[in-house]
Amino acid sequence: MRLLPAAVTLFLAVGVAYYVYVPLPAGIREPWKLMMVDAVFRTAMQLTSLKHRLGLDPYFKCICESTEGLGSLVKGLLASESGGGVMPGVKVSDVTFAGVPVRVYEPPAGGEGHLRRGLMYFHGGGWAHGSAKMGGYDTNSRTMSDELNAVVVSVEYRLYPEVHFPAPYLDCLAAAKHFLSQEVLAKYAIDPERVAVSGDSAGGNLAAAVAQEISTDDTMSGKFSVQALIYPVLQALDFNTPSYLENENIPILYRTLMVHFWLQYLGVDLSLQPQFLANNHSSSQHFTPELRARLDWTVLLSPKHRKNYKQLIVEKGLERLAKEVPGLLDVRASPLLAEPEVLAKCPRAYILTCEYDVLRDDGLMYARRLQDAGVSVTNDHYQDGFHGCFSFIPWLEFDVGKRAFRAYVNWLQNNL
Ligand SMILES: *[C@@H]1O[C@H](CO)[C@@H](O)[C@H](O)[C@H]1NC(C)=O
Repeated sequence: MRLLPAAVTLFLAVGVAYYVYVPLPAGIREPWKLMMVDAVFRTAMQLTSLKHRLGLDPYFKCICESTEGLGSLVKGLLASESGGGVMPGVKVSDVTFAGVPVRVYEPPAGGEGHLRRGLMYFHGGGWAHGSAKMGGYDTNSRTMSDELNAVVVSVEYRLYPEVHFPAPYLDCLAAAKHFLSQEVLAKYAIDPERVAVSGDSAGGNLAAAVAQEISTDDTMSGKFSVQALIYPVLQALDFNTPSYLENENIPILYRTLMVHFWLQYLGVDLSLQPQFLANNHSSSQHFTPELRARLDWTVLLSPKHRKNYKQLIVEKGLERLAKEVPGLLDVRASPLLAEPEVLAKCPRAYILTCEYDVLRDDGLMYARRLQDAGVSVTNDHYQDGFHGCFSFIPWLEFDVGKRAFRAYVNWLQNNL
């Protein structure tokens, strides 16, 4: 009689262990913590997709509601909205900038006539997930506002499936232009010479793209003085860089997941994923040798990261795609494709990269190209870092994430 519950327990335990366990390289410290975070992320995403699939059928409405409940529970665990208690002096308000919702964090007022720093932040989440209000982001914004004496503006740009490229970019650009206007800087008592743009992952992509556009827009007098990019996504033409191949199975950003995010962002049929993984989408005549050189990792990466990997150049694949998906070759989606003249005008840069991250080489190549264009770049590379470590919630913080956040804030202290 006792055997059955014991067998069920054992079965469940083995099942959970099987679900949670992912082999990780020895360089990643705190591996079990990362596996747990990964399991929670995967569950949240599976619930979301289940919800989408079931959403069409009224029969499943109640199941749908309960999964929604579960989904928000998991989301809540990951991203509990932190209350005002973290940094009591920081004033938080939800307003709109040029029609785009933003959350503004104002540091405790300094003396009369004291100007503050400004920082615009774009959160990550594959252009499909995340929010300025999520625990990790909200906490980081409060800390940054307090420690940097900065007015931090965290932007709630629209996400997939509501929109795809270029809408999220245009939301961010509109919010940035509004922020940099004389009236708004004056209203928040911000020093116009000390305004940063920053973001992580997909938000790093938006920050780099917006920085390029504003740097080259002669009609704008207000400019960002620095850009701080946290493991940014910067190109969609080569999914076979050494870092994409080496880290394809490292949580939480698996190679297939990153490609999936790109397909969603660019509005490409998701069934084309295998073609993208094979670089077949890059075999267009529009992808000229000149453009190719801008993400040629055989030249732009150091031998340490290049290793013995071979470049995957496809001569004949899906030529029609570049025409059907103009975003593929658009610098506003892939800032790494920008010409040197544009990069030369960009603000001083901080680029954070992680060894165990499919996006490592995107960041390293961008650092190199900005430097080649004459821009001053600080590249903090975390040998034990992995994608996402920067912005987890307080009780799931990783040691490497804490170090990375400290170094980022220090750089801003010294350079903004
Ligand atoms: C890539 O394109 C080639 C040539 O058209 C084709 O033979 C191959 O099957 C494609 N690969 C995938 C994964 O679709």
